Amino acid sequence: MKERIIIFDTTLRDGEQALQSSLTVKEKLKIALSLEKMGVDVIEAGFPISSPGDYESVKSISSVIKSSRVCSLSRCLDQDIDIAAEAMSTAEKFRIHLFLGTSKLHVESKLRKNFKEIMNMAVKSIKRATQYTDDIEFSCEDAGRTSMDHLCLIVEQVIKAGATTINIPDTVGYTVPQEFGNIIHLLFNKVPNIDLAVISVHCHNDLGMAVGNSISAIQSGARQIEGTINGIGERAGNTALEEVVMTIETRKDLLKVFTNVNLKEIYSTSRIVSKICRMDIASNKAIVGNNAFAHSSGIHQDGILKNRKNYEIISPESIGLKKVPFNLTSRSGRAAVKHRMNEMGYKEHEYDINKLYDAFLHLADKQGKIFDYELEKLAFCDDQYKNLDIFFLKSLHIQSDINGSYTAIIIVLCDSKEIKKSANSCYDPIDAVYQALQKIVQYTFSVKKFYLSSTGLGKALISQVDIIVDYNGRFFQGQGTSRDLLIASANAFISIFNSIWCSNQVINKLKILKK
Ligand code: KIV
Ligand code: ZN
Repeated sequence: MKERIIIFDTTLRDGEQALQSSLTVKEKLKIALSLEKMGVDVIEAGFPISSPGDYESVKSISSVIKSSRVCSLSRCLDQDIDIAAEAMSTAEKFRIHLFLGTSKLHVESKLRKNFKEIMNMAVKSIKRATQYTDDIEFSCEDAGRTSMDHLCLIVEQVIKAGATTINIPDTVGYTVPQEFGNIIHLLFNKVPNIDLAVISVHCHNDLGMAVGNSISAIQSGARQIEGTINGIGERAGNTALEEVVMTIETRKDLLKVFTNVNLKEIYSTSRIVSKICRMDIASNKAIVGNNAFAHSSGIHQDGILKNRKNYEIISPESIGLKKVPFNLTSRSGRAAVKHRMNEMGYKEHEYDINKLYDAFLHLADKQGKIFDYELEKLAFCDDQYKNLDIFFLKSLHIQSDINGSYTAIIIVLCDSKEIKKSANSCYDPIDAVYQALQKIVQYTFSVKKFYLSSTGLGKALISQVDIIVDYNGRFFQGQGTSRDLLIASANAFISIFNSIWCSNQVINKLKILKK
């Protein structure tokens, strides 16, 4: 029978440790709720003794979370244990997570003790924690560099004292998968009372092995995996839980285990964590990166069109993502362009694919990725509109006041008529520019990407602004360059307005033709 892997999330504890600034109680609560919705078994909510803010967060998470178990970290110190238990007293179900360094390095140079003293501390603390709960986890910090003899000895003693989960962390991400799997294997062979506890692993990613080590540990019998969403955490981060969960799902033939995670919540949880923690996700990140399901080369796109399984082992829908359109670039083939046109609702007889594909390649070679509105423009736009811009920036003035508010006064030439508007922003001058431009053009859209870059210094400095907006469910891109950042931003918006205007012309023309 397949066995279940307990998913232990430490985004709010180990993950949060690595952020530039701590999260507020409200932010942590939001993450905890989305972890619960995703079906995480244990949520490590914080380290309550570490700060009043952490205590408050653990307390409020404990009173709200119902189906996941709430857990708090605690050193092997009486006060830590008491405070952890107090912070979680309203939780439906809770766990106290004790940890102590067990490697020679940690015992001698960090804790300045000998191994016997460490074992006594661990046993004494577990006994204290049993006053509050019978769910106690003990972590042998730096287990990856602890001698096997010491590891077996302490694991046996802490289980005897009442620990129900034994966590084996590779605290510094030092081990490699076969070696780490072997540590778990030896524990199962050498510790006489090992079957009285769940064996857990907690891997760090310093050598990029965290997920590999966790999977190897599962193959050796570990039944709890600790990690974080998007793999955030100390230094190079922790095991990325979404990667472990999807590996378990995708390779159930090999691993023969399962989790209780609701896979369809993975994508949104990942985005919530990224946004709240202000940590971008690399576009090539496994499972949740923007490119994780984006096929780019012509050969791959053609293969996918024939059978998705040719190049896809996971469907984007399985993690709660809508179908991901191909990246249409100069590496895309005719088949991919035709397919996208078809997805947009255009029949083959309505346009000339040969002409379209030639024009597409020409543009893609110059600019890279091609958007839907650009395909339509290439396929259907009359030559008179093709290079026609009707909006031009005439002037832009910014006033700032001492209270941090900004006013943008802008004149835009709209089809040769001057329109002047002003707008205020209490955030930043770019926002004031954006507000004023929206008043002028009155297109309602949301900004999906705003990317600033600059090259050179002093006289040679050039700023570039790249923007992507969502206008009526379609993406439009614009770029502006200037020595002045605000002018570059205004020009990037104006190039988008021109594209939207042109796209509206094309769509209206097609509607008329279809009547
Ligand atoms: O990396 C580590 O060893 C830890 C422990 C506290 C579990 O985070
Ligand atoms: Zn850790």
